[in-house]
Amino acid sequence: MTTTTAAPKSQGLAGVTAGETAICSVGQGKLVYRGYAIDDLAEHACFEETAFLLLVGHKPDAAELSAFKDEIVGYRRLPVGAVNLIKEISKAPGAVPMDVLRTVVSYLGQFDPNCQDISPAAEQTKSRQLLAQIPTIIGHMQNVIDGRDIVEPDDSLGHAANLLWMMTGQKPSDESTKVVDVSLTLYAEHDFNASTFASRVIAGTNADMHGAVTGAIAALKGPLHGGANEKAMDMLLEVGAVENVDSYMANAFATKAKIMGFGHRVYKQGDHRAPILHALGREAAEKIGPEATKWFDVGEKVQKIMLDEKDIHPNVDFPCGMTYYALGIPVPQYTPLFVAARITGWCAHILEQHATQKLIRPIAEYVGPENLKW
Ligand code: CMC
Repeated sequence: MTTTTAAPKSQGLAGVTAGETAICSVGQGKLVYRGYAIDDLAEHACFEETAFLLLVGHKPDAAELSAFKDEIVGYRRLPVGAVNLIKEISKAPGAVPMDVLRTVVSYLGQFDPNCQDISPAAEQTKSRQLLAQIPTIIGHMQNVIDGRDIVEPDDSLGHAANLLWMMTGQKPSDESTKVVDVSLTLYAEHDFNASTFASRVIAGTNADMHGAVTGAIAALKGPLHGGANEKAMDMLLEVGAVENVDSYMANAFATKAKIMGFGHRVYKQGDHRAPILHALGREAAEKIGPEATKWFDVGEKVQKIMLDEKDIHPNVDFPCGMTYYALGIPVPQYTPLFVAARITGWCAHILEQHATQKLIRPIAEYVGPENLKW
């Protein structure tokens, strides 16, 4: 067999450095956005500040933040064609919120006169538009699913509060807003994860931002990536009660089933984001009551068994499931909320990739048959 390269092979590109980025650094127990540690950002920065940091590259001053927030608020409303599309497809048989979101983001490219323009100025504008429009898509979709009239954005509310408002038509508490705001910051960016890498591969061909984001949403949906936050909660609901955890886990281990929300390609000693969200989510659940804390009790027992028996830690998707459930967010919207956050990281990476003007095109080692005659 012939090989064309001496480069090391890797299953799933594990451990391969596939390029450079100035946006984010991921290491054991360490996650840094443009030089700022994630625990510092989770404690001190609101999501809009984090979004500005990722997209523009520095911490905003008060005037920059205010202008950025105003710009986002101004982009929240969708073209009527997109609203009609959401109404049409959200209740289609088998409709999955991540698919609805992907379709509408792709469709929005059609309405954007700058869609084909991949200059930094045009892409900064498109980043802000997508950041503003994605919560509106999620909100409208949920309104249609719930059979209520479309809830328009509330320009007086910040990003996280407006997202919750549009989904429910009810003003969220300060506590729910804070928890969702921090979750968005934790989810915003994560270097060359699968969806971001997908967006960079698409952008690497000089394709447009809406196309690259559409591909990224498709990649995030998978249960081994962003879809794990929904699957983690589905699993806890299936377990049902603390007293069922032992038998559920014994059966999962016997059948070699994956426990969703555990394990990570990079973090082998734990995902730094998970305990931050777990603590916030549990605190919020305790104020809500036993129906909310119950799922943390179940989840903590699952977590203890995974650590004791497999030495596998939870990733951020595990506490996310319990936390969003406590806040009353419908499970099929957990991954769309991940999109509402990760759109910032994706757009920053698409800008960075377009600036390199470099195609991403690795090579494969051929392992198929040779020298056949037709
Ligand atoms: N449950 C049970 N066993 C696991 C799990 C898990 N969640 N994760 C890893 N393992 C085992 C795996 O079976 C393998 O065992 P063995 O060596 O005996 O075959 C070993 O640990 C190594 O796992 P791997 O799948 O080869 O590791 P990877 O780096 O290729 O995969 C992963 C990482 C995230 C895909 C994997 O841990 C997984 O499937 N986790 C469940 C899905 C999940 O929670 N995804 C979210 C990822 S992080 C946040 C995000 O992107 O949203």
